[in-house]
Amino acid sequence: MHFLHIFIISSVLSISLSTDEEISVEDSDIDIDSSESRRSKLLWPNIKSPIMDEFLQVIESMHGLNNREDIFSFLRDSYPLPEGLKDPYNEYDFVIIGAGSAGCALASRLTEDRNTTVLLIEAGKPEMFLTDVPGLAPYFQGTDYSWQYYMEPQPDVCKGMINQRCFWPRGRAVGGTSVINYMIYTRGRKQDWDRIAADGNYGWSYDDVLKYYIQMEKSDLKGYEKQPHRGRNGDLPVEFPPIRTKLSDAFLKAGDILGHPTVDYNAPERLGFGKVQVTLSNGHRHSAAKVFLHSHKNRRNLHIIHDTVATKILIDPQTREAYGVEYVRNQLLYTVLARKEVILSAGPIASPQLLMLSGIGPENHLNSLGIPVIRNLPVGRKLFDHICFPGIIFTLNVTNTSFLENQVSLSTVIQWLNYGDNIISSPGAVENIGYIKTHVSDDPDPLVPDIELIGLGGSIVSDGGPGASKAVRRGMRIRESVFNEAFGSIDGTDTWSAFPMLLHPKSFGHLELKDKNPFSHPRMYGNYLTDPKDVATFIAAIRHIQAIAMTPPFQRLGTQIHQAKFKTCKNHNFDSDEYWECALRTLTATLHHQIATCRMGPDGDPEAVVDPELRVHGVKKLRVVDSSVIPRTISAHTNAPAIMIGLKAADLVKYTWNLKFK
Ligand SMILES: Cc1cc2nc3c(=O)[nH]c(=O)nc-3n(C[C@H](O)[C@H](O)[C@H](O)COP(=O)(O)OP(=O)(O)OC[C@H]3O[C@@H](n4cnc5c(N)ncnc54)[C@H](O)[C@@H]3O)c2cc1C
Ligand SMILES: *[C@@H]1O[C@H](CO)[C@@H](O)[C@H](O)[C@H]1NC(C)=O
Ligand SMILES: *[C@@H]1O[C@H](CO)[C@@H](O)[C@H](O)[C@H]1NC(C)=O
Ligand SMILES: *[C@@H]1O[C@H](CO)[C@@H](O)[C@H](O)[C@H]1NC(C)=O
Repeated sequence: MHFLHIFIISSVLSISLSTDEEISVEDSDIDIDSSESRRSKLLWPNIKSPIMDEFLQVIESMHGLNNREDIFSFLRDSYPLPEGLKDPYNEYDFVIIGAGSAGCALASRLTEDRNTTVLLIEAGKPEMFLTDVPGLAPYFQGTDYSWQYYMEPQPDVCKGMINQRCFWPRGRAVGGTSVINYMIYTRGRKQDWDRIAADGNYGWSYDDVLKYYIQMEKSDLKGYEKQPHRGRNGDLPVEFPPIRTKLSDAFLKAGDILGHPTVDYNAPERLGFGKVQVTLSNGHRHSAAKVFLHSHKNRRNLHIIHDTVATKILIDPQTREAYGVEYVRNQLLYTVLARKEVILSAGPIASPQLLMLSGIGPENHLNSLGIPVIRNLPVGRKLFDHICFPGIIFTLNVTNTSFLENQVSLSTVIQWLNYGDNIISSPGAVENIGYIKTHVSDDPDPLVPDIELIGLGGSIVSDGGPGASKAVRRGMRIRESVFNEAFGSIDGTDTWSAFPMLLHPKSFGHLELKDKNPFSHPRMYGNYLTDPKDVATFIAAIRHIQAIAMTPPFQRLGTQIHQAKFKTCKNHNFDSDEYWECALRTLTATLHHQIATCRMGPDGDPEAVVDPELRVHGVKKLRVVDSSVIPRTISAHTNAPAIMIGLKAADLVKYTWNLKFK
């Protein structure tokens, strides 16, 4: 038993945060073949990080251990099958693929009916103690808690990244991407959902989805208690980060001066700036697994198998009815049958991949790979993402004002363990969210923003300097030489920044299979910034951030723009529009909100993969329930929307099969 644990742990947590510029990017899946090489790598100690180092010290002293591998197995969550069952059954009412943000919410609601059996299949591991630590969020992108996806090379974007490719990590864990994300809680504007409904997606208007946002939420947001759109009795904790810098106040005041009132940015009435709301409780991450699965371990009708990869949905080609799932567990192939439905919740990359592997997708594409076509649908043909620009950074003439990783000491960690209320609970130094409509916006609705500003009490240099982890820039895969040339002179110093995030890009990408191997990664095309409007919107946003920096609240702190130099941009004068466009194309960073690869749309919509009840068009007993169904861009980070989709889908399924509501 003990030996087994060590084996599992050591194959899990190899860190692959690369500093080597020449490293070639491995495109093949890591699951089966290369576990040997991963096991031989050093684990956590490989990363130099004050937060990690201090945590290890604390854990070691708590448990009197000095073998770090033991520590990690000791503190890992587990989801044993009930009643000592060794293997799952051969048949369930529902088989759900993917225990992510949506899949966890869905599984927990369906199994409220104790006569309904559910098998939840997840490729990743359960969480562990350190995944609860907000300050460690960027690290997990480089571990086996993440799928190491890369966007296909695209000339003219991501030019400053290793191999000129953008990194697209996704969570691979019980809890999915909510285990590695930045915990920012946003719902999308009223108009976003009303437009989705107006396209023929009945049941998805703002009023319809608001019900689920209220239902999910256990908010503890001082000052917002009486707001009608907030929920207090749900499962998902939402709070303000327990620590703030004075830069945060400066940002809100600056916004106010420029006409952006300080608001609850999740309220539908007005656009404005507001304190970031996060899915933490007492400074600890609350993933979808923690919230929706952890407390239901005693449900005998919910079986969770992790470290298990679904490889195919079984569909009868004659009746076009889904009846089961093939999966690989401990290197063996199994089949499980679904009496009622197969539900795909594998996220925006893996859900379309699995549909195509199972014969549902664009006919020509499937034919070219020799996959028998069961249903010709535009799977993967559209892919929206949210990109941002992290390269506009301001210096200050005061010290000790921003979040600096180097401030973390042993006592910080001990304090966090006891109270959860210091820098370690900061979600990547994000302090505020602001919605703005730039002067180039062509959206007729005054309440639909084109940019979200992510206000930071720091910047991408805050985890730099001697001994610090540099985890954020590594998570973005920025080349070390590019970073050093641009920001080396201010690395690890007090700064602030606002990332502009493009909410409604005109450019969109797509994805397709690379081959028939379910362990290959699909080919993902971001197609970023190919519409000039997207560039113009970014430049307008950058000008607005500069205006924010010029207001008295920031000028009092000696705010000055940092003149970042990029080799790629040496022909442009600093601060010209051309310079900013070039800088944007050099540091093109995604916020990982890929959507629309299994778009929802009514009958007759040529771009739709699922109908408004999330059933795959023309296929029986098969739904897709995750962020891939979101058909249009929304003004939101996508974790809360994915959870909302899981909760709403649970009701749809319950109505279909007449299941009990709690
Ligand atoms: C680094 C990062 C930071 C982010 N920060 C934020 C944030 O601050 N706020 C926010 O709102 N959003 C954020 N997001 C986005 C948000 O977390 C995701 O959009 C959301 O979690 C998606 O939920 P989902 O249910 O669609 O998919 P996921 O949560 O990705 O779940 C899919 C699950 O399916 C599993 N799976 C895939 N293939 C298979 C297979 N073949 N067999 C079995 N299981 C499989 C995966 O391992 C995964 O667990 C962030 C994303 C990333 C990557
Ligand atoms: C429980 O489920 C089974 C199989 O789906 C069904 O035959 C049975 O009638 C159900 N029982 C109740 C009490 O709903
Ligand atoms: C900054 O804070 C640290 C720790 O709180 C303290 O040791 C240091 O003296 C401070 N530096 C300045 C310049 O105030
Ligand atoms: C920082 O700069 C501002 C504006 O120039 C000035 O008023 C302030 O005194 C400076 N503070 C320090 C500590 O130098």
